Amino acid sequence: MKVSVLGSGDVGKVLAGGFLKHGHQVMMGTRSAGKLDGWASQNPGARVGSFADSAAFGEVVVLAVKGNIALDALRLAGAGNLAGKPVIDATNPIADGPPVHGVLPFFTTHSESLMEALQREFPDAQFVKCFNSVGAPSMINPQFAGGPPTMFICGNSDAAKTVVSGILDQFGWETADMGQAESARAIEPLCMLWCVPGFIRNDWVHAFKLLR
Ligand SMILES: NC(=O)c1ccc[n+]([C@@H]2O[C@H](COP(=O)([O-])OP(=O)(O)OC[C@H]3O[C@@H](n4cnc5c(N)ncnc54)[C@H](OP(=O)(O)O)[C@@H]3O)[C@@H](O)[C@H]2O)c1
Repeated sequence: MKVSVLGSGDVGKVLAGGFLKHGHQVMMGTRSAGKLDGWASQNPGARVGSFADSAAFGEVVVLAVKGNIALDALRLAGAGNLAGKPVIDATNPIADGPPVHGVLPFFTTHSESLMEALQREFPDAQFVKCFNSVGAPSMINPQFAGGPPTMFICGNSDAAKTVVSGILDQFGWETADMGQAESARAIEPLCMLWCVPGFIRNDWVHAFKLLR
């Protein structure tokens, strides 16, 4: 697949590397391509462009930018470049300010997630929440003693979730489809829970698993 990765931070780089490793084509999107010169030289197959160039390139779009500017980044990408495409939303609505006893502050509420706000402004894009509740180093083919971890996903398009589920298979995850966009109200706060052991005892290597 041709994959657009909007974001030049740790998540964007790790996911782009995962797509390249599994034989996909990748174009990173950033406001300043120069900051990815080092990364691009280590990943010679990757392309780098503006948010709009990248979004136009991809059949699948990955959103990996700071949560509080996610709408701005998508506006730069352009609604027309997102229409009809799965948009893998790895963002978290982390507010400014320090964690409180390990718990990150969010700027969203229990009845309005970030992904719902993104979906409302870009109704023709097919958002799928994914990759928000694990650290970047464990996103691609993680090896845990307890076996493959579970990625909780949600979104309004079954077709988009099927595409994302296939990507998760390649990346070594079990997929748990938690339903429509509103379920992002529950999935986004998994980021808070995932981070607590990190902040309170520097334990950052873990992932969630759904047992039945
Ligand atoms: N770090 C993790 O382990 C982890 C794990 C799961 C989920 N997440 C979530 O994934 C997302 C990405 O995290 P990250 O740590 O990789 O990177 P980040 O530092 O949160 O975001 C970096 C990206 O944000 C973009 N950005 C910043 N201000 C902007 C603005 N005003 N307009 C447009 N774009 C702007 C930057 O664009 P430029 O390239 O143009 O500078 C860059 O691409 C976040 O929402 C985070 O909560 C992080």
